[in-house]
Amino acid sequence: MKTINDLQMEITALKTQLNAVILAHSYMSREIIEIADFTGDSYQLSVDVQSADALNIIVCGVRFMAETAKLLSPQKRVFLPNPNAGCPMAEQFSPDEIRQLKKKEPERAVVAYINTTAELKKLCDVCVTSSTAVKIVEKMDAQKILFIPDSNLGDYVKKRVNKDVMLLRGGCPVHNIVTLDDLRAIKSSHPLALVLVHPECDPSIVEAADYVGSTTGIMEFAKNSSASEFIIGTELTIREHLQYECPDKTFHALSKKISCPDMRMTSLNDVLCVLNAIRDNTTGYEIVMDEYDIIAARKCIDEMIRLGG
Ligand code: 13P
Ligand code: SF4
Repeated sequence: MKTINDLQMEITALKTQLNAVILAHSYMSREIIEIADFTGDSYQLSVDVQSADALNIIVCGVRFMAETAKLLSPQKRVFLPNPNAGCPMAEQFSPDEIRQLKKKEPERAVVAYINTTAELKKLCDVCVTSSTAVKIVEKMDAQKILFIPDSNLGDYVKKRVNKDVMLLRGGCPVHNIVTLDDLRAIKSSHPLALVLVHPECDPSIVEAADYVGSTTGIMEFAKNSSASEFIIGTELTIREHLQYECPDKTFHALSKKISCPDMRMTSLNDVLCVLNAIRDNTTGYEIVMDEYDIIAARKCIDEMIRLGG
């Protein structure tokens, strides 16, 4: 059986041979982060993909991230190593539901969390990520906003901008599992720990936190902080990465329940398989979109990068 090291060496050699780069979301396992060329939160990956000098882009994350990479780099081939890795929140509203809402609320600009399908993005005015949402909504000319799909991130934005923000009932099923009681329980065991959470958590948790930010934001805050103990309120891998990178600090999970099955799907073996498929010209992993769809869905991402930079 191949070891992790064998797989990583094979992947690294194939990447060079096939002119491929790997983008890995911060939630990926350490063994994938180690072979990645770019790592970070959704916003960082969207910026990095445009500067990636390669013919083939492999996105280790979930489908909407690979779709975003394709929209931003249509001339490159983009692959999702595990085609089953999706984000349930991205599909919570159908394009028809949003079309109906737009008819009812025509004066509202539609702001989509980047965790949406490319089909939904076609209907939106601007995309946001967890790290850019407040800044972008603030900068938009529109005073009336329809925010889709995450009501927790939407609530976080609504409380920080002076605009009329309409929310829907969507959200991340993983972050929504955790409750204020979970936070109180872990805080009572570690009263000195700073609480760092993702804005996909329930507003009651967000309001009680010491820092709220994206996956990259949480990691940077913890690394740069003079504090030595933290409670991490996002996918469990972030706590693991932080404990590995900052062995002198202590990191506790806000809840062991915050585990995203989709983000955990991609393995080193999947990455090797996709590289073999590129070499052998077999199909199944590539994100394919026609030119018209790309133009229509890309506008709101270009707008995100313009306003978020
Ligand atoms: P980030 O934008 O913070 O990377 O979040 C993506 C995500 O899916 C969090 O659950
Ligand atoms: Fe989607 Fe939530 Fe998983 Fe992030 S953690 S990919 S928002 S289901």
